[in-house]
Amino acid sequence: MCRAAAHGVRRIATWIVFFLFFCIASWPSLSVAQLQVGYYNSTCPRAEDLVRKVVRAAILRDPGNGPGLVRLFFHDCFVRVSIYPYFMGCDASVLLEAVPGSNVTVEKMSQANNPSLRGFGVIDRAKRVLERRCRLTVSCADIVAFAARDACAAMGGIDFPVPSGRRDGVASLVSEVLNNLPPPFFNATQLVASFAAKNLTADDMVVLSGAHSFGRSHCSAFASFRLYPQLAADMDANYGMQLRARCPAAATGRKDRVVDLDPITKLVLDNQYYKNVEKGEVLFTSDATLVGRNDTAALVGLYARNRTLWKSRFADAMVKMGYLDVLTGSQGEIRKFCNRVN
Ligand code: HEM
Ligand SMILES: *[C@@H]1O[C@H](CO)[C@@H](O)[C@H](O)[C@H]1NC(C)=O
Ligand SMILES: *[C@@H]1O[C@H](CO)[C@@H](O)[C@H](O)[C@H]1NC(C)=O
Ligand SMILES: *[C@@H]1O[C@H](CO)[C@@H](O)[C@H](O)[C@H]1NC(C)=O
Ligand SMILES: *[C@@H]1O[C@H](CO)[C@@H](O)[C@H](O)[C@H]1NC(C)=O
Ligand SMILES: *[C@@H]1O[C@H](CO)[C@@H](O)[C@H](O)[C@H]1NC(C)=O
Ligand SMILES: *[C@@H]1O[C@H](CO)[C@@H](O)[C@H](O)[C@H]1NC(C)=O
Repeated sequence: MCRAAAHGVRRIATWIVFFLFFCIASWPSLSVAQLQVGYYNSTCPRAEDLVRKVVRAAILRDPGNGPGLVRLFFHDCFVRVSIYPYFMGCDASVLLEAVPGSNVTVEKMSQANNPSLRGFGVIDRAKRVLERRCRLTVSCADIVAFAARDACAAMGGIDFPVPSGRRDGVASLVSEVLNNLPPPFFNATQLVASFAAKNLTADDMVVLSGAHSFGRSHCSAFASFRLYPQLAADMDANYGMQLRARCPAAATGRKDRVVDLDPITKLVLDNQYYKNVEKGEVLFTSDATLVGRNDTAALVGLYARNRTLWKSRFADAMVKMGYLDVLTGSQGEIRKFCNRVN
């Protein structure tokens, strides 16, 4: 009698444990994201090859696509759209267009993205190829991650396996952009905090900032607080005068020109950025400030001197950033067109 009761209690306890485990495991924000290298091995074996081909061709046509794609990945991952029960980061929400007739404003419309973000056409082209080969199989979020890697490989010789299996989000809100992305006037302490909010370390932040070793910026992103009314104190004066010639003081009707982030090796993703930081030849406060704190300054020095070390840490940090608030399993969807939800 007593033994039977004990048995019953044990069986119920076992069920409760199972039930709790199931609840916890299926709760999106608590479960550890399951991404795998070679996720499409059996469902679309040529997926990564095909993306690489499209990206290489796009870079040959216009090298600006390379930096554009790397920044696209960053802006996708950092912007978290928190709509219960999902917290979405690398979910291709940055690609969504506003739906005509709806007043929902999408990430693309933010001043941090518009008109400077580029590479959308490359992602759309890759998606078209993949839809022909493997219908509704490869997510836009994974295409963005693969394309960023392929751009690093093509323009920096930095190649690395990208865990995949992300699913596409179904929401994009302009209001989530500026409170998630660090602005170019942030100081080191603010940058460290902004990356920490994404579970990324100060080292990850310094390492990833090395992406400012290629590509461009619009004058409007920095002129008002770096060039005028006076040159920033931490900017090299000669460099600053060259920038002023290229970026006239804000005046209505003037075209918003662009300047190279790294004038020395503008088409190469390399560690030249860190040498520029040390010389005060960088555009943003967020770049110059890295030598303003002894911990980040030590890292700048380390990466300026050791390109191999920086490349390998950059690859690791890109992979880590690619895990930010991803949707997996049956969450979200696989979009048919990257610029709109199914
Ligand atoms: C640390 C904080 C960061 C700030 C404040 C910042 C800010 C900016 C700004 C203002 C621009 C110029 C956009 C324009 O006006 O055209 C830019 C460009 C760029 N950023 Fe960042 N960024 C940061 C981190 C990153 C990270 C983590 C990555 C990627 C790993 C990245 C990759 C790029 C690239 C590649 C460009 C050039 C884009 C192009 O040529 O189209 N940035 N960034
Ligand atoms: C896919 O294949 C690659 C290379 O053979 C292997 O390293 C990887 O683990 C595979 N991934 C999966 C999920 O099967
Ligand atoms: C537009 O926005 C307002 C409030 O912001 C909301 O009440 C309204 O339902 C929205 N309309 C559409 C079509 O989404
Ligand atoms: C960074 O900016 C914050 C906010 O403006 C400020 O409180 C802090 O003192 C600054 N830190 C440094 C080291 O300049
Ligand atoms: C934060 O990062 C650490 C180390 O990279 C990782 O082990 C941990 O799972 C991450 N936590 C979250 C909530 O993403
Ligand atoms: C950095 O500076 C602080 C004081 O501002 C000091 O306590 C610390 O030891 C320094 N760290 C290194 C690595 O130099
Ligand atoms: C650069 O870093 C690598 C590790 O990636 C290390 O093996 C090498 O010794 C370092 N080189 C120098 C000159 O410190």
